[in-house]
Amino acid sequence: MTMMATATDVLAAVRAIPDPEIPLITIEGLGTPDTPHLLQEAFVLAGAVQCGFCTPGMIMAAKALLDRNPNPSEAEIKKALSRNLCRCTGYLPIIEAAAKACSKKEKDIFSIREKQTINLLKQINNQDVIVITTPKQKYYKPI
Ligand code: FES
Repeated sequence: MTMMATATDVLAAVRAIPDPEIPLITIEGLGTPDTPHLLQEAFVLAGAVQCGFCTPGMIMAAKALLDRNPNPSEAEIKKALSRNLCRCTGYLPIIEAAAKACSKKEKDIFSIREKQTINLLKQINNQDVIVITTPKQKYYKPI
């Protein structure tokens, strides 16, 4: 599972859940077949998906970039995607898809609903969790 917290992509599955103040978004929740996220739509239209193995990581890395930098350069896009490996596409369609999606000035559903999502996350009952606090963040690990 590829996950991201706001403006930060995470490459490995994690057992601890970040602070509920930070929305956790997975590729599965990014869009639907009827209403894909603009990145998902761009990847399909650009032919940037072949076997699909790398696609979740690529899209979530591009989303993290888009969230922190709404107008990235091609070099910034390449750097943001550089930790993801693709064995099929040769990267060009992937970079083109990310650039096309990043060039759109539309806010995605997560940006529009951010406050509502945070409020819903705060309502989750955290009685059955271990709280891990670091100097920078707080994590909640289900027991
Ligand atoms: S589409 Fe197959 S690994 Fe990227």
